[in-house]
Amino acid sequence: MPRGGWAGRSLRLRGRGEPRRSATGGAPAGRAAESEGAAGAGRTGEDVVVRRARPGDLDAIVELFASVAAEGRWIAAEGTIDRNRRRRQLRERLHQPETAMFVAEAGREPIGMLRIDLASYGVAELGMLVAAAWRRQGVGSALLRSAIAWAREAGAHKVALQVWPHNQAAISLYERFGFQREGLLRRHYRRRNGELWDALVMGLPLDQPTSPG
Ligand SMILES: CC(C)(COP(=O)(O)OP(=O)(O)OC[C@H]1O[C@@H](n2cnc3c(N)ncnc32)[C@H](O)[C@@H]1OP(=O)(O)O)[C@@H](O)C(=O)NCCC(=O)NCCS
Repeated sequence: MPRGGWAGRSLRLRGRGEPRRSATGGAPAGRAAESEGAAGAGRTGEDVVVRRARPGDLDAIVELFASVAAEGRWIAAEGTIDRNRRRRQLRERLHQPETAMFVAEAGREPIGMLRIDLASYGVAELGMLVAAAWRRQGVGSALLRSAIAWAREAGAHKVALQVWPHNQAAISLYERFGFQREGLLRRHYRRRNGELWDALVMGLPLDQPTSPG
């Protein structure tokens, strides 16, 4: 499994008051300013680094996960999660060569995470989240860029994911990186309130020329 070019990057986040780069006129958020070893200023003025997760990150990742699950609208988990079970699952994945877990951290605070699993048939499936206070500043893009680089190096021919159709932020991010809408799982996931939610399936082919953001 690859260990290469994505590791240990710092990025300079776009400040909250700074204008967004247009999709046509400039590089996507984070990218132009991302550089090896650069000191970036985030919400608290601390550097933001994307790196592989370590065992010592697990508690913080679980808390990050719990906070996004509590929002109830963006990821499959919702409400109060079983922290011990989640920690066990994450710990197992940390040691699996076909899985990579990335964290974005500001100072010592994890503010985003992404997990990607490479299946034996060559598709790498991912899930990701960024803490609410840090969204729309390029963190998700930096995590996704690292994951796509890892998938390429691991020999995946495709990256795939599922997303709620109402999650416009995530869909926009994925489309910006070249993901295409491939289908809809109808009334597929039962939520705690009994509702059955659709899920959009998206895919990014890696064996064809693309220009992911
Ligand atoms: C989806 C998510 C990971 C995006 O992370 P992020 O750090 O906010 O993303 P970025 O700042 O890198 O955004 C990059 C681009 O994505 C698109 N985007 C991100 N958030 C958006 C929003 N709220 N509305 C519209 N477009 C959005 C934009 O094109 C944006 O570029 P721009 O800011 O220059 O316009 C984040 O919103 C999140 O964690 N949400 C909750 C959990 C979740 O939905 N996970 C994904 C489940 S499938």
